[in-house]
Amino acid sequence: MTANNVTAGSWPRGFIWGSATAAAQVEGAGDEDGKEDSIWDAFARVPGAIANGDTLEQGVDHYHRMPADVRLMSELGLDSYRFSTSWARVRPGDRATNPAGLDFYSRLVDELQGAGILPWLTLYHWDLPQALEEKGGWANRDTAYRFVDYATDVYAALGDRVTHWTTFNEPFCSSLLGYASGVHAPGRQEPRAALAAVHHQHLAHGLAVAALRELGAENLGITLNLSTAIPRDPSDPVDLEAARRFDSLQNRIFLEPILLGAYPADTLRDLEPFGLSDVIEEGDLEIISAPIDFLGVNHYHDDSVSGHPVESSADGHSGGAERATSSPWIGAEDLTFPTRGLPRTAMGWEVNPDGLRHLLVRLTAEYPTLPPLYVTENGAAYDDELSDDGRVHDPERSRYIQDHIAAIGQAIEAGADVRGYFVWSLLDNFEWSWGYDKRFGIIRVDQETFERTIKDSGLDYAALIRSVRSAA
Ligand code: NOJ
Repeated sequence: MTANNVTAGSWPRGFIWGSATAAAQVEGAGDEDGKEDSIWDAFARVPGAIANGDTLEQGVDHYHRMPADVRLMSELGLDSYRFSTSWARVRPGDRATNPAGLDFYSRLVDELQGAGILPWLTLYHWDLPQALEEKGGWANRDTAYRFVDYATDVYAALGDRVTHWTTFNEPFCSSLLGYASGVHAPGRQEPRAALAAVHHQHLAHGLAVAALRELGAENLGITLNLSTAIPRDPSDPVDLEAARRFDSLQNRIFLEPILLGAYPADTLRDLEPFGLSDVIEEGDLEIISAPIDFLGVNHYHDDSVSGHPVESSADGHSGGAERATSSPWIGAEDLTFPTRGLPRTAMGWEVNPDGLRHLLVRLTAEYPTLPPLYVTENGAAYDDELSDDGRVHDPERSRYIQDHIAAIGQAIEAGADVRGYFVWSLLDNFEWSWGYDKRFGIIRVDQETFERTIKDSGLDYAALIRSVRSAA
């Protein structure tokens, strides 16, 4: 399927076209209506942690402009909006429920429903209350149980109107980048704590699935960032071993406990010196593997991987900041990411849409228990600008999006059960340690005035959605 015949009627009926953001990246209002610090608020105050010393305090002012932002979603014709709730707003300091914090999300959901847009809610998109980090954060098993308290609070307030619930977004980042490489909040460089964080986030996911299921939730899932490891030289055993280790830590350590109820044997073996097995308690894997209704796949690029010291491309796991970081590749710090001569985005990430087709087909082939898939993030940062004609001409982003959508179409034709696509991101926003410089939005945000301008890529995405609808 090509981008053109995406519009020709062969697209599955009911396929969801959406776009996504996350609370910490867009909301701002860092201390309004009772909100207290999350680990990202605290991390952003560490000198050198975030490029240009950017902070989340104002975000892109979504907290104050939410109704207008929902009108923009309507203009684009989105079926669904994927957003996250902020734990530090809902339970500031993780002490008690904050009705004013929940009220913001309740108004957002009402606004979305009024516009006929399906709310797709993520409970954890990396913003742990700082108060919990001070008690050990995700390295502390108790945090998993605190997560369930927070999740049930959100469900009690919104469960009557929100149908799709995602527990975690990209636990790879909130465990390994936060606790091993230190490029993400809380900025720790402690491999053992990072593996404890992996396991405790899995546990929190499983406990929350059970709790929300009990309360009546019907569509429960998790979003993982998955990437295929391409050995630089497939005939070189050193590169093949590097690719295996990459796949183990990037993909299988997250997929298999959830889908198969077990950590991969090679992962457990590799990580033995770093204590992964020590934090697994009896019964945990049964909790973690509670059936889910969908798997969210975030995908931007695949990774060319080697075990030899070669000149590396930006591998997507380093940050924009000045701070010294260490490797998220616990026990495999020698991994390198050689370039393949493909075009790259402003993040340095290689553009290879066929990698997405390959990933979706591979997941389908390898995991018989795979639930329906949604591509919950895909998109590209480019250094676009507002032109004299008042528009943002971003043909590279348009092309990126259309080519990846076409790749999803091909995966569906090859048998993958993919039911939706969410562009990252609705708005230019706070790209974590890279700050506001990296623009992923299909809507431009002027960082001085917060004025919004739909980019050409947004107009093209809207046109694609319209033509799919009219062909259906
Ligand atoms: C993944 C994350 O979920 C999102 O927060 C981030 O901005 C994008 N990828 C782009 O890096």
